[in-house]
Amino acid sequence: MTAYEIITRKRDGKQLSDSEIEFMINGFVTNRIPKYQMSAFLMAIFFNGMNFHELNHLTNVFLNSGKRIDLSHLKNKKIDKHSTGGVGDKVSIILAPLVAAAGVYVPMISGRGLGHTGGTLDKLQSIPGFKTNYSIKEFTDQMSKIGVCLAGQTDELVPADKKIYALRDVTATVPSIPLITASIMSKKLAEGIDGLVLDIKVGKGAFLTEISAAKRLAYTLIEVGEKNGVETVAYLTDMSNPLGNTVGNWIEILECIDCLQGKVSGPLKDVTLQLAGAMLFLAQKAESIQAGVEQCKILLENGTAWQKFLDIVSVQGGDIGYLEHPEKYPKAKFQKDYYAQNDGWIHGINALDVGLAAVELGAGRQKVNDRIDPVAGISLHANRGAPTKKGEPIFTIFTNRKHSLDGVYTRLQNAIDIKDDQPAASKDIIQYFDKSCLA
Ligand code: URA
Repeated sequence: MTAYEIITRKRDGKQLSDSEIEFMINGFVTNRIPKYQMSAFLMAIFFNGMNFHELNHLTNVFLNSGKRIDLSHLKNKKIDKHSTGGVGDKVSIILAPLVAAAGVYVPMISGRGLGHTGGTLDKLQSIPGFKTNYSIKEFTDQMSKIGVCLAGQTDELVPADKKIYALRDVTATVPSIPLITASIMSKKLAEGIDGLVLDIKVGKGAFLTEISAAKRLAYTLIEVGEKNGVETVAYLTDMSNPLGNTVGNWIEILECIDCLQGKVSGPLKDVTLQLAGAMLFLAQKAESIQAGVEQCKILLENGTAWQKFLDIVSVQGGDIGYLEHPEKYPKAKFQKDYYAQNDGWIHGINALDVGLAAVELGAGRQKVNDRIDPVAGISLHANRGAPTKKGEPIFTIFTNRKHSLDGVYTRLQNAIDIKDDQPAASKDIIQYFDKSCLA
């Protein structure tokens, strides 16, 4: 067997055997297969796809490239949530403490921002001292101690995904259903969870822009989860417009604080509550998803979720002084406001443009090793569906990169679609799927 032959077979649309998949992935992880052959292999998968047997095996080969977290000593259900990535998507930071406050174990391995999408870890690391680099032992110990941990992927966990994702990112092979499935599900299966709630983002600011592709991804992820013993449900949620009113890192933490203190309403809160409710339902802490949502509303309103967030931040080494007194946090050197030119209604804010604008300001990465500026970001004073009045502020940009101000200002101005008439209502939560969709 050679890499050349296996690439040829996938290029020609053939089904790969288990041993061929193992040969390619394990060979790449151990440096026997070079990047140029792995790139060709990934592109062949991108164009010709994989059937369920192949992609499920690919997921398991990824999974077995590293160790797994064993949480079997924790007697209640362990449930995680995963988003396919978006702009202003800060849901995990609110949801993890909220669901943990309801008594569910939440082992959460999150990702970093790349391209126009932000990453939970970068946002959390804008809190001075917050640690996300955990060994499996440290992760397990924290789970036993406070029932929740928000950490990053290490070389111990699914090294195959870490290495292959970096290559996909620069070879235009990210938006492939088998590759996304193996990447997400291998990491989730390695966490030792019983249940998983997926937030599949769809729209201009998501990896998948078409609802049909997002639905296919939902079916595939659910099928792999269920086949591997993890009860899996999925929501398709809108990512045409940024989620919530902030995009960046520290600025998103500020919005999370407001939400955890019960001061936020709208899509961010609605999506968070729905996903959290589903987690409580999978954990058998609520009789239905709606009952879970109602429980979570109370935990947001009575301060329990906020208190749990403070606990997580202190245990993970973060300085809660900044959460309690955000005014102490350093400020960006430059800021610029945009004011509405006319009365009207916002019909849309292009999430892709906003994500790219945030990267230009310094809030995201163009390359894996780029440094993130925690104070760079965008505050949206209004979002889709809101009325605008001439002279009222629509957005403010914050940056330490003076040279980026004018370009970003123009980009954002063009990203906002203001018209005279009121737009039709749109759905933030588009559709729900569970294993019944496989029947
Ligand atoms: N998120 C992941 O973890 N992997 C992908 O391939 C896409 C989104």
